[in-house]
Amino acid sequence: MNEVQLHAENVRQAAAKITAALGGLKPKLAIILGSGLGGLAAKVEGAVKLVYADLPGFPVLTVAGHAGQLIIGKLNGVPVIVLNGRKHFYETSDAYPLKTMIRSMKAVGVETLFLSNAAGSLRPHIKVSELMLITDHINFLGLNPLVGPNDEAFGPRFFPVADAWDPALGAKIKEVAQQQGVTLHEGVYVAFRGPSFETPAEIRMVQGWGGDAVGMSSVPDCLIARHCGMKVAGVSCITNMGAGLSDEKLSHAHTLENAAKGAGAFEKLVLAAVKVL
Ligand code: HPA
Repeated sequence: MNEVQLHAENVRQAAAKITAALGGLKPKLAIILGSGLGGLAAKVEGAVKLVYADLPGFPVLTVAGHAGQLIIGKLNGVPVIVLNGRKHFYETSDAYPLKTMIRSMKAVGVETLFLSNAAGSLRPHIKVSELMLITDHINFLGLNPLVGPNDEAFGPRFFPVADAWDPALGAKIKEVAQQQGVTLHEGVYVAFRGPSFETPAEIRMVQGWGGDAVGMSSVPDCLIARHCGMKVAGVSCITNMGAGLSDEKLSHAHTLENAAKGAGAFEKLVLAAVKVL
């Protein structure tokens, strides 16, 4: 088998295992939990858990704060699949594990992917522990997960991403945030590859580009999902001001600590939003 065939086979086998675990439940929504936002996993009712290690081709995780579990059940009565943990491009340039994870969601009938992440703010009015609806992105990873041989069975070689972050879903999430009294900014998410945080000069550069938040994830996930025809929505939890915009010293521990502070609002928003997504 070549790599394309092996990947297709992994997706097929992973989807079969997930379908068996669904036991008749038909989730249309999958949620990927970002760094420090794993608390939502504990809110899943009637949870059935699969570990990534048991799903062929799924990511093998290494970063603290990312558990590597697929959780099936209901959030606020709505059937969902929660993906707790994922592989980042600062760990590998191999996009296949992420592709397997997302394409197997599509294969089991999921139509909408909700992405979340921890991010740094580029704007003074977007403050630490607040949330930002992602309305668009800038892919500054230097990588696109769809580079390489294209399997037409998943999606086309070339595809538009003008509406990558679904405007109609975004509007619904904003409405829910207002109803719930949750502060929800909106803006453009800029993906850096990491693992270093940015320099102050890089932060000034992407401010000038129209970015509103920076992070190291979610853009590949969005592109893979859009390629195979899923809708995408996403929210960043602001864990810090971008480098040079405040005196705080950035670290992963700092990210997790501040993500925990935003997690309450994040969970409140998502629990209400699942009803309308
Ligand atoms: N930069 C990149 N990734 C991040 C940041 C940041 O400031 N905060 C949380 N993830």
